[in-house]
This record gives sequence, C-alpha cells and structure tokens, in this order.
Amino acid sequence: MTLDQLESECSRCTKCELCHSRTNTVFGVGKKDADIMLIGEAPGENEDIMGQPFVGRSGKLLDQLLEEVGLSRSKNVYIANMCKCRPPKNRDPKPAETAQCLEWLNRQFQIIDPKIIVCVGRISAQKLISPSFKVTRQHGEFIEKEGRLITATYHPAAILRNINNKPMALADWQAICKKARELGIEL
Ligand code: URA
Repeated sequence: MTLDQLESECSRCTKCELCHSRTNTVFGVGKKDADIMLIGEAPGENEDIMGQPFVGRSGKLLDQLLEEVGLSRSKNVYIANMCKCRPPKNRDPKPAETAQCLEWLNRQFQIIDPKIIVCVGRISAQKLISPSFKVTRQHGEFIEKEGRLITATYHPAAILRNINNKPMALADWQAICKKARELGIEL
C-alpha cells in the first residue's frame, strides 16, 4: 500500500466520534520517505479547514524553527498528528480517540519508515514515549524503540505562550540534526 492509498482510506475513517464534526481529516504532509517524522497533537481550526497539519500560528513558528536548522516540510521531513481529526473547541483528544487513531499513525510509520521520530509536545510524547513524560524535564532526550530513535521537543503553542522556551526548542532541533547526521542521514 502507498501513502496516498492510506491517506484516501483514512479520509473515510469513522472509527470515533470526531468524524462527525470534522471538515477534513488531516493525514500529514511532507517528504513521503522522510528520515525525520514529526508528530503533533491534533488539528486545530485552520488545519481542519485546510486539511494540512500546522498551518496556523503554531505552524508558522514550527516552520520557522525547522528552517533555522535546515529542515522543511517541502524538503526533508514529514509532519503528522496523533489524531487525524479536530477535537471540538480544541479540547485535548480523549484517550480512546488517540488509541483508535494510533492505527493510522502506525501504518504511516510502516510506509514512511522514519529513522527519527520527533514528538512535538506532551500529547504525542506521552503516547509514544512514556505516559509520565514531562516535556519540560525530558525534552531533547533520545530513546530507541523498535529500531527507531524517538525524542520530544516543545510544542510551538508552548513557545507562543512563553517565548523563554524558544532557545531550548531550537537547541533540541539542532541536536536532532546532529543525531541525523551521525546516522548518515543527508539533510
Ligand atoms: N497543533 C498540533 O499539534 N497539530 C496541528 O496540526 C496544529 C496545531
């Protein structure tokens, strides 16, 4: 199965109640065989309308951070979310919704086959790394899981709330690029 075929299947998903309120599923965007894959939380209002992840204010900041270290969704990373549909009023996704949606994400991992997974924010870090993960304390740490490296960094919304988090996020992205080069990934 190709990524495009999976996206088309996902666009018809009715596994949880979020399918009733969504405008579009937000499957993901970027290089289809990227070595670095970013996982956010869930689409917001703009993402739901556009069908693309991180297109609002947070997305602009994320793109800016990526650009500072030579990464971009058009060139060398793939960006997806834990949840493919917008939770109403931007509430946190419910555990059952994230659990259902994980099947799509796992199939994306299988096809894209990234070497490094970057959890962008708490929701994906707690689901993909450990339920007790604290971004403020553990951002930038790498662990190996099922043959891939996983790390986490600040969600851009957390930087918009407190600009003092920006240098730490930038340092995380620099470390991610350094690790990628050590693995022989060309950026
Ligand atoms: N926040 C996320 O985590 N994902 C998006 O796609 C947009 C905002």
